[in-house]
Amino acid sequence: MNDFFGKLLNYVWMFCLKLTASLPLIKEPKLFEGENSSLDLIDYMASQKHKSVLIVTGAGLIRRGQVQPIIDRFAELNISVTIFDRVEPDPTFSITNEALNLLNENNCQSVLAIGGGSAMDLAKVIALSASNKKKPEKLTGYFKALKKPLPFYAIPTTAGTGSEVTVISVISDNQTKSKSFVIDPRTASLATALDPVFMITIPPALTAATGMDALTHAIEAYVGRNGSAYTDEQALAAIRLIFKNLPIAFKDGSNIEARSALALASYKAGLAFTKASLGYVHAISHQLGAKYGVAHGLGNAIVLPHVIQYSAPSIEVKLATIAQEVGIVQQGDDTKQSAKRVVEYLFAFNKAVDIPETIAELQEEDFPSIVKDAMSEAYFNYPVPKFMPEQDCNTLLQQLLPNTVA
Ligand SMILES: [Fe+2]
Repeated sequence: MNDFFGKLLNYVWMFCLKLTASLPLIKEPKLFEGENSSLDLIDYMASQKHKSVLIVTGAGLIRRGQVQPIIDRFAELNISVTIFDRVEPDPTFSITNEALNLLNENNCQSVLAIGGGSAMDLAKVIALSASNKKKPEKLTGYFKALKKPLPFYAIPTTAGTGSEVTVISVISDNQTKSKSFVIDPRTASLATALDPVFMITIPPALTAATGMDALTHAIEAYVGRNGSAYTDEQALAAIRLIFKNLPIAFKDGSNIEARSALALASYKAGLAFTKASLGYVHAISHQLGAKYGVAHGLGNAIVLPHVIQYSAPSIEVKLATIAQEVGIVQQGDDTKQSAKRVVEYLFAFNKAVDIPETIAELQEEDFPSIVKDAMSEAYFNYPVPKFMPEQDCNTLLQQLLPNTVA
C-alpha cells in the first residue's frame, strides 16, 4: 500500500474506532480477586440462575486436578457441567466447532473458560456462535453477530492476554494457517476471577513472556493516539504493577502477592488496549509468530524496546510520565532524558527476566514479506504514534537478527 493512502486510511479508520470505543458498549466484568476467588465466581454464576455450563479448558489443568474444586462447587450448587478439555495454543476453527457442537448437544446455558488466551478466545467465540446460530467462520471481522453471546465467564490461568476483558478473539484457519479475528464489544466476560492459585505452577519463561505481553498491551495502549483518561489510568497502573512484580514472580513463582498483582495488571492492560488498541510491536510480532512460530509474548518482549526506541522522539512526554510513575527519573533529567531512561530500562528489564535479544529463527530473506504484512496490519488496525516507513522497519529487523549481538 502507498504510504500516503495507508496513513490516510489509518487516520480515518482510527478516528472511527476511537468514537466507537467511547460509546458505553464495552462493560467491565464483575471482578473477583485473591486466593480461591474462582469459587466466589462459581457462586456468582449460580446467582445468575444458570442451570448448565460448558467449561472450556486444557487437558493439563484437568490432569493436575486444578479444575476439580470448580466442578465440585458446581455439583454442590446443582449446576450441570459439560467439559471441553481439548484447548491447545492457537485454537483452530475445527477445534472451535467441536467445542460448539458439545455445547449445543448438551444445551449449555453459559460458558466458563479456565485457561489462558486460547481457552478464553475459543470460549468467547462459541458463546457468540451458539446464541446467533452462526458458524464461528461466519463471525470473523467486526460486529458480525446480531444477538448477544451466551453468558461468558473467565478464570484466566496466565497473566498476559487480558482476553477476559477484551472484545477481540483470535482463531486460526486450519488450511491457510492465518489468524482470523472476531470482534464484538459484547464478548468480554460478564464476570472474572483473578485467582493466583491457578498461576503458581507457571514456569519462569512463560511467566516472563506472558508478563511482557501484558506490558506491551499497556505501553502500546498508552503511547498510541486513541487513548483516553480512562485507558491511560488503566495502562499506567498495569505498567507500574508489571515492572514491580514480574521479576519477583519470575524468581519465585509461588509468590501469591506477585501473581495476584500480575493478574490484575494483565486485566487492566486488557481494559486499556481493548479501547485504545495496540501498535507496531504487535504488528511485527504477529508476523514472527506466523512465519516462525515465535510465541506471542516472547516476540513482543524482544520487539518492544526497539519499537519504543524508534518512536521515542514522538512520545517523549508520555515516556517521561512512565519514567516518573516507575521511579527511574534521576535528578536533573529533562523530558528527553527521562524518555531515554524508559528505553534503557526496557532493554535491561528484558535481560532481568531472561528474554533473548534476538529472534533465533529470523532470516533476512523474509524481511520483505514481514515488513509488508506488518505495515499492512498497522495501517488497518493501530493508532501508532509515529509511522514507520518500510525502510525503517527493515532497519529495526536487522537489529533482531541473531548475528547482530556479540
Ligand atoms: Fe498481545
